[in-house]
Amino acid sequence: MPIPKKYLQRIVPYPPGKSLEEVKKELGITGKIIKLNSNENPLGPSPKVLSALKEHLSQINLYPQASYFTLKEAIAKRWSVFPTQVVLGNGSNEVIEFVFKAYLSEGDEIIVSKPSFLMYEKFAQIYGVSIKEVPLTKELKHDLKGIIKALSSKIKAIFLDHPHNPTGSTLSREEWDEFLEKLEDDVLLVIDEAYGEFIDDPSVPSGLEFLKKRKAALILRTFSKAYGLAGLRLGYGIASEEIANTLEKVRQPFNVNTLAVIAGLAALEDGEYLRKTIDLTLQGRKYLTEILTKFGFRVYPSQANFIMVDFGEKCDAIYQELLHRGILLRPLKAYGFTTCLRITIGLPEENEVLISNLREILKL
Ligand SMILES: Cc1ncc(COP(=O)(O)O)c(C=O)c1O
Repeated sequence: MPIPKKYLQRIVPYPPGKSLEEVKKELGITGKIIKLNSNENPLGPSPKVLSALKEHLSQINLYPQASYFTLKEAIAKRWSVFPTQVVLGNGSNEVIEFVFKAYLSEGDEIIVSKPSFLMYEKFAQIYGVSIKEVPLTKELKHDLKGIIKALSSKIKAIFLDHPHNPTGSTLSREEWDEFLEKLEDDVLLVIDEAYGEFIDDPSVPSGLEFLKKRKAALILRTFSKAYGLAGLRLGYGIASEEIANTLEKVRQPFNVNTLAVIAGLAALEDGEYLRKTIDLTLQGRKYLTEILTKFGFRVYPSQANFIMVDFGEKCDAIYQELLHRGILLRPLKAYGFTTCLRITIGLPEENEVLISNLREILKL
């Protein structure tokens, strides 16, 4: 048998949330499933995106625009940056991978928080890059002071999801400013804002603010969450032209498919859908946080489209019981939170069904 690279032997694949088909098959559920396990948009796709897609289906025999200039221009306009500062990926996951391809060699080190979005670690394992893990603070936030202490000449990049997955935690402008001041210019700071659209705390910085303060930075955004396009796989990075050009070099031609481009353009035009998504997410986040706190569970303050809830010793039983009732939450054992579940904010009626089922299960 051919022998794979040595460092691949340790890799455990990313543990994705269960799909609708998997749950239906495993549990024999035929009715409606409420899927609150992968932070997808509960509204379904934007009707404007759907009609744009239908209109362009007859073009899928053609390759997409090689430069992706039209979509890059639309994203650049949204951010008031140059199109040359935008890098598109097959999901923002692919842009994370570009960083490994372009900047990280075997033997280099990266810093990530422990725990955080698992793909940083997975790519590090695939590319033979070492990981320095800095534990979250007691409040389950990135420990920026700890990260500064962990720096060494081997550290080439820092990956921080902000809001953090799976807790939804964020940091204030002052905390970031202090951190950015202490960070050397030769370290690439990757701020992963997959949930950036859901931040409503004005003391929390996002997007361009980081780019204005630091050249060696890459901001990641995705169409998978607030824009409702997880199935089409479209994400992007924004950085200085120099960094964006470097990342472009490792991109496959046509890495983003024609329909994702069409959908991305239509989604950027559909402000109404985005506003509706954000409104219902913020309302649902407040509602679920308050009611689950009232039930006596610890709910971590979240700026994302999900909340992390500590259900204590009942956690596994609650997860299983809800699963059998067709309500899917995300267990967090892989992240080390053995008594917590992550709940994606659903439609108001879905949140209500979750709460009424919890009342029944817990006899509240
Ligand atoms: C923090 C974070 N970054 C990136 C991603 C990847 O998103 P995409 O669908 O754009 O690849 C996710 C997906 O859940 C995420 O939680």
